[in-house]
Amino acid sequence: MSTTGTLLFLLLWAVLLVGALSIVVSTLRTGAPPMPSPPRVRRALLAMLPRDTAGTVLELGAGWGDVAFPLADHLPQARVVAYELSWLPFLFMRLRQRFFPRANLTLRREDFFRASLQDAGCVICYLSRGHMARLAPRFEADLPEGAHIVSHTFALRGWTPARTVRLDDLYRTPVYLYVVPPREQAR
Ligand SMILES: C[S@@+](CC[C@H](N)C(=O)[O-])C[C@H]1O[C@@H](n2cnc3c(N)ncnc32)[C@H](O)[C@@H]1O
Repeated sequence: MSTTGTLLFLLLWAVLLVGALSIVVSTLRTGAPPMPSPPRVRRALLAMLPRDTAGTVLELGAGWGDVAFPLADHLPQARVVAYELSWLPFLFMRLRQRFFPRANLTLRREDFFRASLQDAGCVICYLSRGHMARLAPRFEADLPEGAHIVSHTFALRGWTPARTVRLDDLYRTPVYLYVVPPREQAR
């Protein structure tokens, strides 16, 4: 191999290594790996949301954009805001947005725990049990009444889902739909 070839090879390995390390570090930091929802789950998530949904829709932890982009297509009247902290998946989404732009999709490299939920009519997530336990009081206090929460796999403890779909896969993967009840009503 020529010197240039060797240098390129080493550079490629260095980029891959840095990328892999960044994913490990951000997974340790956030507590959720950037694991994408499989296509079947993605379809089930989208099917929970009527196509005429308008207003602000938040995706909390968007990973590589495997849900955010189809979500923006599925809900043309909504403004989808996708939060992601991990820089490599976020960079990938930025490239995706650059080459395949969606006018109704905004990408934010921010911690969603610091974001305001007050305008959201709908929230989508695939996170972890710990995230859901931390988000539950925020959903209760900040989301408007009637807002929809759709969660892949992880339930909101103490909340009763308005609908649960179990996929016909190995794990019988659940997808939950919750509706934020009127404030005075106990969950
Ligand atoms: C399991 S992935 C889900 C990806 C995507 N939603 C999907 O279903 O294909 C969870 C993502 O949430 C991100 N995440 C976890 N905590 C976060 C936080 N506090 N703020 C922003 N992103 C976060 C992780 O970096 C990870 O990419």
